[in-house]
Amino acid sequence: MRTAHGSTARAGFAGFALERGQPIGDQIVGRLMAAIRSGAVEPGSRLPSIRALAEQLGVNRNTVAHAFRELAEKGYVETRFGGGSIAARPAPTLPAASPVQVPAGAAPAPAGAPLSEREWERRFARHLNGYLSPVTPPLFPTGAPRPINLFQMRPDTGLFPLEAFRRCLNTVLRRGGRHLLNYGSPAGYLPLREQIARRLRQQHIDADPSQVLIVTGSQQGIDLLARAFVDAGDRVVVESPMYSIALKIFSVNGARLHPYAVGPEGVDLRPLEQLHPHEAPKLFYAVPNFQNPTTHSYTLEEKAALLGHAYRLDSLVIEDASDAELHGEPQRWPALAALDRTGRVIHLNTFSKTLVPAVRVGWLCAPTPLVRRLTELKEMTDLSQSLILQAAIAEFMERGIFDEHVARLRTAYRTRMERVLELLERALPREVSFTRPDGGLCVWVDLPAHVDVQRLFEQTRRRGVLVSPGSLYQPLASGRNGIRLCVAAEPEERLAEAFAILGRELEEVLRSPPPAPAEQEYQSMH
Ligand SMILES: Cc1ncc(COP(=O)(O)O)c(C=O)c1O
Repeated sequence: MRTAHGSTARAGFAGFALERGQPIGDQIVGRLMAAIRSGAVEPGSRLPSIRALAEQLGVNRNTVAHAFRELAEKGYVETRFGGGSIAARPAPTLPAASPVQVPAGAAPAPAGAPLSEREWERRFARHLNGYLSPVTPPLFPTGAPRPINLFQMRPDTGLFPLEAFRRCLNTVLRRGGRHLLNYGSPAGYLPLREQIARRLRQQHIDADPSQVLIVTGSQQGIDLLARAFVDAGDRVVVESPMYSIALKIFSVNGARLHPYAVGPEGVDLRPLEQLHPHEAPKLFYAVPNFQNPTTHSYTLEEKAALLGHAYRLDSLVIEDASDAELHGEPQRWPALAALDRTGRVIHLNTFSKTLVPAVRVGWLCAPTPLVRRLTELKEMTDLSQSLILQAAIAEFMERGIFDEHVARLRTAYRTRMERVLELLERALPREVSFTRPDGGLCVWVDLPAHVDVQRLFEQTRRRGVLVSPGSLYQPLASGRNGIRLCVAAEPEERLAEAFAILGRELEEVLRSPPPAPAEQEYQSMH
């Protein structure tokens, strides 16, 4: 029965017959474990497909799938990307370490150890009170079929030119060799900063490499800037609704938030008129192109007006351009940093959407004196990022693959969005409206104020569809009501299924009577 590596033989199951009276799953699990342990099946051997084995044994596919899952949990089976399973050998279990002998009386244990949940809570810094959940309930029970995930802002990783990137990785490892194996500069790998500065200049943002700081995703950039500038009680101007984790970051740092609305008709900057220089905000945080979560792009007038308020109040502006490159041309949707001539706009961007989130590389562009100080602050968090990945990305850009890839992405997402909008048009109730973005990853669905989006989230979740409730994005107790749907990472059939479920649930929610006025305000998660 010895099966060679890569053989398509029914590794481990040739001549296998089930015994009566024994659970079938246990027999399958036992058979393969024994075959691997005895060496009859070598690790790496291809296993029969679930369908083939179910047919061979005359049993239900689910039974075999369950058994394979159990084998995978035990480390005897690995599922391959793209389908198929191979035999594996679990890592040997380490011998139990002998207990450390504490000299008698040297370290008397305090009463009450180990610490209770409440004790942990008490020990956290006060400014984190109420922000860190002791338990994060799983979005979906383990073992249930994979939900249709419209919740996370995920790109379609299938569009990533993996082979080309692997070649870049190989090249830099061969060429850069051991230089790439150490800590790098906390500001980032210089050739990557040069490439990014070049790209920024193409976007009409005046940048040289000394103005570029590499960060662990734009997320770290927001955190870094909040830590750098916000003292408890400082004012920060934000959008409503706004990017949910930026909302958390500013709140945790004790900021007093001054929101302005990003509505279906555009941004309403009137609340900023009431701010006077003596109560000036330290910062503005905005996502002016393809805003998260609403997908709105500020008009040129809106951008100019926002900058005008920042200048009048002598505030700094954080421009988060995380999603912008997926949509389009910088002439059509210029960055705030391209319009600014005063150096007050700090521009953030990321490779998470144009490459893949897994590279965890983003950048911040700001005047050099600020970048120097931020570099030191960032070093306190992470010392530096992976030189290997940064060098591979720089190579990817130098070869021109990045530019070509982004151009292809724009077309792919635009085509997909057209299809998504058609599907939504058919599936959602007529009285519901949604944004029509020019490509990108998400659509925002506006809902009447009385709709409880948290309840809608729960209802669709029970039916296997995760949507993002607008309550996550609210700096105000009542703001633009709706849900965000991220539509890039699920195949079309699953999207159609999800929209049909959402449409049915929405019909029901819309028919429910609005709650009594006191309950009408829906609650932010913070
Ligand atoms: C507006 C916005 N900013 C920042 C981030 C963080 O992204 P990353 O850290 O992957 O660059 C996201 C992620 O979706 C986002 O939507």
